[in-house]
Amino acid sequence: MKITAQASSDVALIKYWGKKDEVLRLPENGSISLILDGLNTITTVEFSPEYKKDEVMIQGEVEDGEVGRVQKHLDRIRALAHTNQFAKVVSQNTFPKGTGLSSSGSGFAALTLAATSALNLSLNEKELSILARQGSGTACRCMCGGVVEWLNGDTSDSSYSVTRFSAEYWQDIVDVIAVVSTDKKIVSSTEGHTTAKTSSFFEVRQQHIEEKLEEVKRAIQNKNFRTLGELVEAEALEFHSILFTSKPALIAWHPGTIEVMLAVQQLRREGVEAYFTINTGFNVHVLTLEKWRDQVKQKLDSLALVQSTLIAKIGDKPSLIDNHLF
Ligand code: PMV
Repeated sequence: MKITAQASSDVALIKYWGKKDEVLRLPENGSISLILDGLNTITTVEFSPEYKKDEVMIQGEVEDGEVGRVQKHLDRIRALAHTNQFAKVVSQNTFPKGTGLSSSGSGFAALTLAATSALNLSLNEKELSILARQGSGTACRCMCGGVVEWLNGDTSDSSYSVTRFSAEYWQDIVDVIAVVSTDKKIVSSTEGHTTAKTSSFFEVRQQHIEEKLEEVKRAIQNKNFRTLGELVEAEALEFHSILFTSKPALIAWHPGTIEVMLAVQQLRREGVEAYFTINTGFNVHVLTLEKWRDQVKQKLDSLALVQSTLIAKIGDKPSLIDNHLF
């Protein structure tokens, strides 16, 4: 049976960085994110005795590294369903992949839902989140909708995500994403996580991360956008300070990344509330409110090094859809 799922990517307000278990992908700390409606992956999966091996196509390409990771994830799902049938997997994103916009999060969330449904496994949201986490850390959050917290559990069973606020709770928030390059980033997050602890700032981060998570949740609860924005931007800079001081140093930014960061600070001086955050890539998420959306977009579009902008609102959890990709 052919099944197609759609899942949205997310933007972490407090980032997951470092793993206490590489294989199970257990994070060093809890994290919180917004699911992004508008940054979507659509994935069709079909298991059949006709297939003599897994056939995986992502964005029209077959890339060995990613195919291996998808196959491993299919193996986990096959083991749960007690089958050894191979599968065909075709996946498309509505946004550039491998550029710091968490395409592995939406990708593995869509794959998890499509493949488990194709094998008639009936798993609840917690079980799906635990399963998705083993394919990609971010996917653990992308199995949920709205404002999502990934709990900092010490075991596989206790490391999963939950919705803290529904997608509807704060629809006024807009994420204007500045795409400064669509080149694939040089160092993947998977690789970056392994050097997290080599930064002497890592310890400092661990000491106040719980407090930061609480502050972010409180700001959302109170719909205090300024406090939220200040926390999120400071977190992004702290996170990148860790990347800069890791061994080897991980410098993810492009010149356009800095151009956007400075423009966001300038917007604030002009009275526009906008705040940036950046993952391990170079493209920049700029969080603002509906009333400033056009002004922020125009400013970012006018920058010399910005190629395009994308708009996302807080989105829902993954769902099954009818339009198959093959
Ligand atoms: O899920 P991964 O391995 O792509 O790691 C994601 C790490 C960050 O994007 C930097 C932070 C986060 O929480 O999304």
